[in-house]
Amino acid sequence: MKRVFSGVQPTGNIHIGNYLGALKQFVELQKENQCIYCIVDMHSITFPQDPKQLKKNILDVAALYMAVGIDTKKSIVFVQSDVPGHAELAWILACNSYTGELSRMTQFKQKNKGRESAPTGLFTYPILMAADILLYDTDIVPVGNDQKQHIELCRDIAIRINNRYKNTFVVPDGRFLKAGARIMALDDPLSKMSKSAENIHSRISLLDEETKIKKSIMRATTDSEGSIKFDMKEKPGISNLMNIYSVFSGMEICEVEKTFEGKGYGDFKKELVQVTKESLTPIKEKYEEIRHSKELLDILKDGAERANTISEKTIKRVKENFGLGL
Ligand code: AMP
Ligand code: TRP
Repeated sequence: MKRVFSGVQPTGNIHIGNYLGALKQFVELQKENQCIYCIVDMHSITFPQDPKQLKKNILDVAALYMAVGIDTKKSIVFVQSDVPGHAELAWILACNSYTGELSRMTQFKQKNKGRESAPTGLFTYPILMAADILLYDTDIVPVGNDQKQHIELCRDIAIRINNRYKNTFVVPDGRFLKAGARIMALDDPLSKMSKSAENIHSRISLLDEETKIKKSIMRATTDSEGSIKFDMKEKPGISNLMNIYSVFSGMEICEVEKTFEGKGYGDFKKELVQVTKESLTPIKEKYEEIRHSKELLDILKDGAERANTISEKTIKRVKENFGLGL
């Protein structure tokens, strides 16, 4: 049995990109692995957050984890800041990483928008992420493509420490899906779908109303050619929609092409609205059931305890190997 770890930031608007790139894999991996899924609230404060909103967002993500099918009897679900080992290990990893490698992270460059000075936490964000992963002796990290570079850095740091000190960490592998790994914005298929884009029609959030789903899909950017063919380079808009259709329907891209041969974009979009609604309705129903229940808080408390038990063992081993403490 392999150990799986992943995390999502509680920053609102969890969208179908998060679902298809990450959450859907989380659910599938539960069958054959020991899975740990975290709500990474400490990552979210790399930008200032409204405290009340942050608390609400944490519970929203927890409820969504369960609504998409994470089974908390099997898998551990917890909030990052409830387990002190994350921050503790992050410091130790920071002492074994370099400003040069951190400055190469494209996500940092994008989020800092070229400013000369950056919040230190935004710069060291990938180190905290590496700590999340290494703390649990993780074998597999299911994430969207945008996290590839962070996973590489985590591996580099683990290997470096294993060479400098005693063999301390399991070196993890990223797991990326072929079809859902990078869902693009509906209004601009050249940028990825994001939680923070101003135009709400650039994304479909998991809890969107049916009328909003329809509106966002019907006005999604395509091209003037009118043929339903997959070509990410020449036809990024329709290809992105085909990708979404493919993962929601379980059809291969070539089957999607065949099914819609000779049909127009309007017909295709109507069908896409349909499969999207069918996939999201049960998630919304389960979410409503659980979001305000006491059970949710109990599950997170129990999750933190289980996570802490594993984390303490790792911290003890790390301190021993480094000669820290008594
Ligand atoms: P975040 O919202 O940044 O915490 O992302 C949570 C998870 O969703 C991570 O595994 C990301 O890689 C994944 N993700 C975010 N945006 C997209 C996207 N547009 N397409 C596919 N996966 C995504
Ligand atoms: N950085 C990830 C993102 O923005 C979230 C994250 C934090 C994460 N810690 C992690 C993902 C550990 C996987 C494993 O999407």
